[in-house]
Amino acid sequence: MFKKLAIGAAFALALTPAASFAAGGGEQHIEDFDFSFEGPFGTWDKHQLQRGLQVYTEVCAACHGLQYVPLRTLEDLGYSEEQVIAYAADNFEVFDPELDDFRPAIPTDHFPANTGVGAPDLSLMAKARAGFHGPYGLGINQFFKGMGGAEYIASLLDGYTGKEKEEAGAVLYENTAFPGGWISMAPPLAEDQVEFADGHPATVEAMSEDIAAFLMWTAEPKMMERKYSGFVGVIFLSLLSVLLYLVNKRLWAGVKGKKTA
Ligand code: HEC
Repeated sequence: MFKKLAIGAAFALALTPAASFAAGGGEQHIEDFDFSFEGPFGTWDKHQLQRGLQVYTEVCAACHGLQYVPLRTLEDLGYSEEQVIAYAADNFEVFDPELDDFRPAIPTDHFPANTGVGAPDLSLMAKARAGFHGPYGLGINQFFKGMGGAEYIASLLDGYTGKEKEEAGAVLYENTAFPGGWISMAPPLAEDQVEFADGHPATVEAMSEDIAAFLMWTAEPKMMERKYSGFVGVIFLSLLSVLLYLVNKRLWAGVKGKKTA
């Protein structure tokens, strides 16, 4: 009886929508975007990652660094070696202790560290934040929806209400995704701020999704390899289980056969 009740209660908790119990106070709203990399068979949408890189370079890099991401890994987004060399040299300067001066970045450098005041580094942000908390912060919803780091970032960038207030000399902007509801980052994106080479629309929502996907990649560049090895592991273990079952049957066949006879 108790067992049944406990199972029932666990199910009821698991099915309660995340938003109503979101941790951190305030009415946090996280949109459940459909990203291409979700699910066991999800893959990166390289065009989306390239658009995200463009948004990062043209907008976010003014304040945020990506100091844990080596520039050479951009080849994974489908760029050639020459394109990465050109991108690094055109966009970033790094301090070289040997020259005791700044020089254009090369692919073996990392993206520069954070330059903006109070703006956190974004390299691992998509793994450092969770969009879905589940009832009472237990995280049960994450079993069904994933951590939601990318969803959180996209909802944050698309979640400005337009209201602002001044508190202790700092301007705060109302945001429906930020815990507590007020963030000190001014809305960074505006419609058509970035012009995509592939003609993709540059609405705030579309750009938010693109940069969120890109930041998911910076935080977990080997996600596809992880999924693949998980998949191989599951197939291997299933085969092994079948074999062990058959071996077990064969080994005990004599003994068991005698018993029933
Ligand atoms: C003008 C400077 C500036 C620009 C440009 C900017 N940010 Fe920020 N960002 C900030 C500051 C400052 C904070 C810290 C806000 C706070 O904690 O209240 C922040 C915080 C964040 C956070 C962390 C929120 C959290 O949960 O703590 C994310 C994610 C973020 N920015 C993403 C971006 C992205 C993506 C872009 C580009 C589209 C961008 N920012 C552009 C200044 C900026």
